Amino acid sequence: MRAQSGAPTQEGAAVVRSAAHLRGSPRLPGDKSISHRALLLALLAEGESAILDAGDGEDVRTTAAVVARLGAEVERIADRVGRVDYRVVSPGRERVAEPDGILDCRNSGTTLRMTAGIVASRPVFAVLDGDASLRRRPVARIARPLTEMGATIAARAMGTLPPVAVTGRAPLRPIDHPTTVPSAQVKSAIILAGLGADGTTTVRETVATRDHTERMLRARGVAVRSEAWGPDGAGAVVSVDGPAAVAPARERVPSDPSAAAFWLVAGAAHPDAELVLRAVGTNPTRRAIIDVLRRMGASIDEIPAGGDGADGGGEPVSDLVVRSSELHGIDVTPREVAAAIDEVPVLCLAAALASGTTHIDGVGELRHKESDRVAGIATGLAAMGARVAVDGDLMTIEGGRRLAGAVTESLDDHRLAMTFAIAGLIAGGETAILGAGCASISYPGFFDEIERVRA
Ligand code: S3P
Repeated sequence: MRAQSGAPTQEGAAVVRSAAHLRGSPRLPGDKSISHRALLLALLAEGESAILDAGDGEDVRTTAAVVARLGAEVERIADRVGRVDYRVVSPGRERVAEPDGILDCRNSGTTLRMTAGIVASRPVFAVLDGDASLRRRPVARIARPLTEMGATIAARAMGTLPPVAVTGRAPLRPIDHPTTVPSAQVKSAIILAGLGADGTTTVRETVATRDHTERMLRARGVAVRSEAWGPDGAGAVVSVDGPAAVAPARERVPSDPSAAAFWLVAGAAHPDAELVLRAVGTNPTRRAIIDVLRRMGASIDEIPAGGDGADGGGEPVSDLVVRSSELHGIDVTPREVAAAIDEVPVLCLAAALASGTTHIDGVGELRHKESDRVAGIATGLAAMGARVAVDGDLMTIEGGRRLAGAVTESLDDHRLAMTFAIAGLIAGGETAILGAGCASISYPGFFDEIERVRA
């Protein structure tokens, strides 16, 4: 296989060469989690919503298409690399339309699970399906609570895998649901369904997950309550009183901290680097990667934006400056893994480049992402010379070895593709990433930024 350094070829392979230095300010996409929610909440709000600087990856485009199929007018009013402004005009939650065919959620678990919560609360029939990767991802975790609320849900493999057929009901019965795995998608699906329930719907999480849905609903006039919960206070109990109307909003989406994480690791681990990341979302439920990397010795300066940086959504925003650092191994707890779930692949790279040993405990959920990320990252990093051991839900990475360019495989998983590309900037020689084109799922233009920061 031979490809030029830089953007993936048509077959989707990319080659990244070792960089002498890294400088500049990589362009970042708008936050994927917030962009999905802004579109879905715009569907629920009667009237006109504006979403500025949304992420323009394939996953968010998928949600935009689903929202249009459910009856809203969705217009792209401007776009830039990785970003798009949307205008959405919707007849509102009580007039969500029955789709005339299958809703294709493609690669996006967030689209499928959150949309299921919305259609469950309307008297419509909808089938949600996706690509080969999505068809391997669990849905019982949403099917059970939505069934308990009164919707009728059928899914392949004894109700565990997509496609999922939802026959909704209005109003739903409110429930009090303890989640079995920490999942913001599950919490959000239940809370969105709860908007159409007759009474108070409650979700209890033993480990609190990202709270964008709660914040964004509050910014749209819905009184969502949230309190610390559980024996050690690390959980959250979230409730909403239905039926509730969602008001339209105008929201600017911050830069995606999960995308910024790639550059935080690149900047901290490369011996000659200084990178500036602008207007990154630093919501306490999303910023764990910043704090974990700092615990490993990363030099990351944080300059909070004055006022309401995220403008409309109640999300804190900062500029981040990362510089070459002496990283050392640490023990990462299951709670930190839950809080940095999408950043664990690139955290494994940081561990491989750090001195000493890193233990990452509680990685089980990573097996249910766009790929089996535990296997994918272990195989790719091992091919580059890292020592990675997996024992159940514990990963042990012995750092301190110089990585060498190798052929790696993305397994069609955007976060693996980008992790191996960052590894390629630091490893000796050339790193090939097979199936690199999937980076555009969350980060369009990522490989152009790789070339810009090394220039
Ligand atoms: C997301 C929640 C997480 C995360 C995903 C986005 C969200 O998934 O991995 O990329 O936007 O709510 P889970 O809820 O399955 O943990």
